[in-house]
Order: sequence, then structure tokens, then C-alpha cells
Amino acid sequence: MAKARTQFICQNCGTVHTRWVGKCEGCGQWNTIVEEDPMGGIGAGPGRTPKKGRPVALTTLSGEIEDAPRITTGISELDRATGGGFVRGSAVLIGGDPGIGKSTVLMQAAAALSRQGHRIIYVSGEEAVAQVRLRAQRLGAADTDVLLAAETNVEDILATLGEGKRPDLAIIDSIQTLWSDTADSAPGTVTQVRTGVQAMIRFAKQTGAAIVLVGHVTKEGQIAGPRVVEHMVDAVLYFEGDRGHHYRILRTVKNRFGPTDEIGVFEMSDKGLREVTNPSELFLGERNSKSPGAAVFAGMEGTRPVLVEVQALVAPTSLGTPRRAVVGWDGARLSMILAVLEAHCGVRLGQHDVYLNIAGGYRITEPAADLAVASALVSSLAGLALPSDCVYFGEVSLSGAIRPVAHTAQRLKEAEKLGFSQAVLPSASADLPKGAGMSWAEMESLPDLVARIAGSKAALRQTDDDD
Ligand code: TYD
Ligand code: MG
Repeated sequence: MAKARTQFICQNCGTVHTRWVGKCEGCGQWNTIVEEDPMGGIGAGPGRTPKKGRPVALTTLSGEIEDAPRITTGISELDRATGGGFVRGSAVLIGGDPGIGKSTVLMQAAAALSRQGHRIIYVSGEEAVAQVRLRAQRLGAADTDVLLAAETNVEDILATLGEGKRPDLAIIDSIQTLWSDTADSAPGTVTQVRTGVQAMIRFAKQTGAAIVLVGHVTKEGQIAGPRVVEHMVDAVLYFEGDRGHHYRILRTVKNRFGPTDEIGVFEMSDKGLREVTNPSELFLGERNSKSPGAAVFAGMEGTRPVLVEVQALVAPTSLGTPRRAVVGWDGARLSMILAVLEAHCGVRLGQHDVYLNIAGGYRITEPAADLAVASALVSSLAGLALPSDCVYFGEVSLSGAIRPVAHTAQRLKEAEKLGFSQAVLPSASADLPKGAGMSWAEMESLPDLVARIAGSKAALRQTDDDD
């Protein structure tokens, strides 16, 4: 019999190390390594011989499916993010920072589903029954038939869920509080969290109940984050948002039963989360269109266009090494745009600090934002405001060429709907609408764009030399 060995597992990403180290080689986080017993979670400790397997019944693909495969909440933004509702027999993970609104949205979903006559069980391991009731009252959900339990032990939860009629949806809030008798390590460790989640997934598959698992994103240390169970569940949604802003974005990062690029947008109010069906209006709400350095990006989130303002500040630096700071966009991508501006457009930024911000705490992942970012940067550097009725989109390549992006017609349609009348877009864009109420300028390369904004490249160099 092999000697039982412990492993050192990163609580952030799950990387296994053979010895304790201060910094995880997998994700670069410090002090996240915890010693755990790998066998603890499998229940096959030393001295136990594996039991002989028994054959399971094989079936065909074309069998009966008893119920509608999905249960829709009627909260359209939530249904959109899940790809059309919770799938029976599946496990969904909802991750996010503590306090972002995970319990709130799930209580609202539970109430909505319960009103439709579904059997919903809400298991809270974080809050006492009284606290959950208080929230439910605030959300106007107290009169529904949502069944509530405050429990953290996996075996007890499973016994509870298995009793009586099968629940249509069970919410486990949160996976970090789960602990199982079969795992030796402390609650919140990777082994415990994985064991608990595994048991819940097994329950979902066996009974056909939909399971929603809540996972807190942990900044540091001893608690396992939701990432360590992402591979096990059927869908992963992250709740994002900025504490300073009211709205929250539910972003799909994995979905075995639907698209992965959808977002649901909510606004946090004193009565819970409200759906935002037209996010562009929200993101463009506080726009100051007269100042240099602002460009409106016509983006896409899944099947839905979203307009958002890109803000840049380019100012002479007082430091030896100029600062580059980005909020809401990829820092590496900003460096790339700056390099292309320097190399191909004669825009020198070596003596300038560059700050880039996506308005309202929104986060852009699309490369199509390159053109809007470049426009905002050039506009700020030149001190020239861009036309306030113009939207920008297109991908910039390292050669300075502007590449077409998908969904041109949809982006233009949304812009027109919101009162924009011009667009700057890549040349050779496909599906340009005919006879639309918008005019557009097709850009072949980044120097063309710079010339358009600054009047001429020379004028821009002049500004650069002046300071
Ligand atoms: P919560 O759902 O408890 O967060 P999580 O489960 O992700 O940790 O949300 C907590 C925050 O939401 C808290 O800061 C209070 C705020 N909130 C409202 O603004 N309005 C409401 O109606 C509710 C229920 C919460
Ligand atoms: Mg909570």
C-alpha cells in the first residue's frame, strides 16, 4: 500500500505543487498554497480496496425527455445570460466579488420561479434564516413558496434535497461554505469545495434538478475561488460591476447549453436588481461629448449591440517613465495601439502619460474597440474633440491596417437608434446597410484615422512638439 501523501494545492487556481512555495507557479498569486490530503475527497483512504464495478444500463440518444428542458425565470437579462433559462439536470456556477449581488439576483430568480409553480430550494450557508428572510422581504419575495434552509454540510443538504418531490431548482449559496464528512481538509479549501460541488453536480444529473452554485471570487489566501470548479460545472457566469456604479453585468464565460458571449445587465436599486434592457442608454447617460479624448465605441455583446464611451487622457509626463493606466480594457492591447501610433502614424507618446478608461466601469473585451481607443487617444493628444454624433469600431493590426469586424449592420442600427448620425469603420466592411440614415467614413489604415482627426499628420506633430 502506498503511503498517503499530501499535496500542496493553490487555492486560487488549483495547481498542485509537490512542496510548499510562497508563490504559485500556475497563477502567480502569493500565499495561496495549502497542504491538503488528495485522497480525502475521494473517500479512498489507505486500507480501502476499490469495489468491483457494476455495469450500468446503456440507453439510446432518442429517449423520452419528461419536462421542458429549461426553466425560464422571466427575468429577461438573467435568461439571456444563461442562454434561455436554467437547464434541468445541469449545474451553473455564479461567481463574483463578495457583495456584488449574487444572493440578491438568485433570490429574485427563486421568487419568480416559485410564482410560476416551480419547487425552489434555497440553501444558505452564508447567512442565517433571519437574514435571508430580511432580504426576501426587501425584494418582495417573502410571500412566495421558496423553501429555505441554512445548512453547510453536504450530506445533510443532499438528504434534504432528496426528500419529498424533486426540486426544480436548488440554490447553494455558497460553495465555499460547503463541507463534507468524506474530505479531511478544512471548509473552504480546494478539496472541500470540489468534493461539495461534485456531490451537487451528481445530484443534479441523477435527479434532473437544476443546481445553481454561488462562488465568491477571493482576492487572496486560504479560501478556494470559483475557478477551481469551473471545469466541473455546465455553465459559468460571473457577476461583474464596480462598487461605485449601480449597474451589474452578468457575463457568461462557459455554457455547455448556449452561447458564451452573452451578458445580462442589471441596475442595483433599493428593491434589488432591475433589468436594463437597453444598456447603451445607461452607459452613454452621463456623457460629456464636448471634451477631447472621448470616443463612442459601437460594440457587440453576444447578440446585442452595446454603445459605450472610451475616455483617454494623454498628458506630458513629469516622471522618468511615463505612466500607462487602463481601466476596463486590456493593458497589453493599449500598449499595442500606442506602438502602432508611434511606428506608423508619427505620433510620439514617449514623453506622455496615457490614461484610458471605459465609462461607467464597463469592461470591453472585443478587439473591435481598437479604433475607438486610437481615436480617443489621438483626440486627447491633439486637444481636439471628436464629433459627438459619431461612433467608432474596427480592429487595428500591427501593420497599422484597420481590419473589418463582424456585425457592422447591427452596430450601425443601434447607433442610429440612439441618435448618432456618423460612423468611422473599417474599409471593406461586409453587410453595410443601404440607404440608412447614417453616413460613414471607411478607414483603411490608422494613419488615415489620425489624419482625419487632426486635420493632417503634420498638425499633430506640431502639437506634440509644442509641449
Ligand atoms: P448580495 O446579494 O448580498 O451580494 P453577494 O451575495 O454577491 O455577496 O448583495 C449585497 C449588496 O447589494 C449590498 O451591498 C446591499 C446591496 N443591495 C441593494 O442595494 N438593494 C437591495 O435590494 C439588496 C437586497 C441589496
Ligand atoms: Mg451572498
